[in-house]
Amino acid sequence: MKGKKILIVGGSTGIGLALAKRVSEDGGEVLIASRSAFDKQASIRSQPYLESCTCYSVDITVESEIKNLLEKIGKIDHLIFTVKSPLIVSPFLELDLKEVRHAFDTKFWGQYSFAKLAHEYINDGGSIVFSSGTLGKRPYNGYSTLSTISGAVESLGKALAIELAPIRVNTVSPGFKTLKELEEKIPLGLGSDSQISNSYLFLMNDSYITGTTIVSDGGAMLV
Ligand SMILES: NC(=O)c1ccc[n+]([C@@H]2O[C@H](COP(=O)([O-])OP(=O)(O)OC[C@H]3O[C@@H](n4cnc5c(N)ncnc54)[C@H](OP(=O)(O)O)[C@@H]3O)[C@@H](O)[C@H]2O)c1
Repeated sequence: MKGKKILIVGGSTGIGLALAKRVSEDGGEVLIASRSAFDKQASIRSQPYLESCTCYSVDITVESEIKNLLEKIGKIDHLIFTVKSPLIVSPFLELDLKEVRHAFDTKFWGQYSFAKLAHEYINDGGSIVFSSGTLGKRPYNGYSTLSTISGAVESLGKALAIELAPIRVNTVSPGFKTLKELEEKIPLGLGSDSQISNSYLFLMNDSYITGTTIVSDGGAMLV
């Protein structure tokens, strides 16, 4: 990661924050953006390896905010998304469409429009890594919104790998981190932020991989 500039959208907590530490430890320049990242800059920078990271405020659902952010930061090498939409758990027939649309606006349209606006800011040899989720491949009762968003994100990743080449475009499909009732069932149990962040690092570093989805879910998809 030495000499590389990495923007992690959704890096203020969770997997994105764990990835930010790994990138920084590896010598990369880390930029973190989320709605609250700028306000939380002092606490983010107080964490190991993140003393010199820069934090920006952006709401991924607002195009003008994305444009302003990109103009401010200029060229980058890798664009990583770890933005999470609100968790909607409800039987399909009882879903509130307004909530479903908001989840799509955040996690699908957010990544979609950000990638569209950002591609010209990505240096040669750079890449985009989207986040989906294991529910896209293995649905559960009540989680149709996240299953659908994840499937759409993975398809977008494949389509853009062709259209935006030589920029590489890949997706990480994280598994469950907190759903205690699944812990016993999943072959490797629940995942940690740090474990899952490995896949994003791998996808940034491998210069011959594009259009793929890495599933980091401890085998959750199989059970
Ligand atoms: N947690 C799981 O078990 C799980 C399972 C499968 C897939 N995933 C996926 O893996 C990725 C990372 O998950 P995580 O658990 O690490 O997430 P997380 O800790 O909840 O972090 C989500 C990030 O998204 C940012 N965010 C939310 N709405 C935003 C918006 N409108 N604009 C800009 N930033 C926004 C949050 O910051 P602000 O609040 O400051 O905006 C935060 O930085 C997500 O795509 C998630 O859906 C997670």
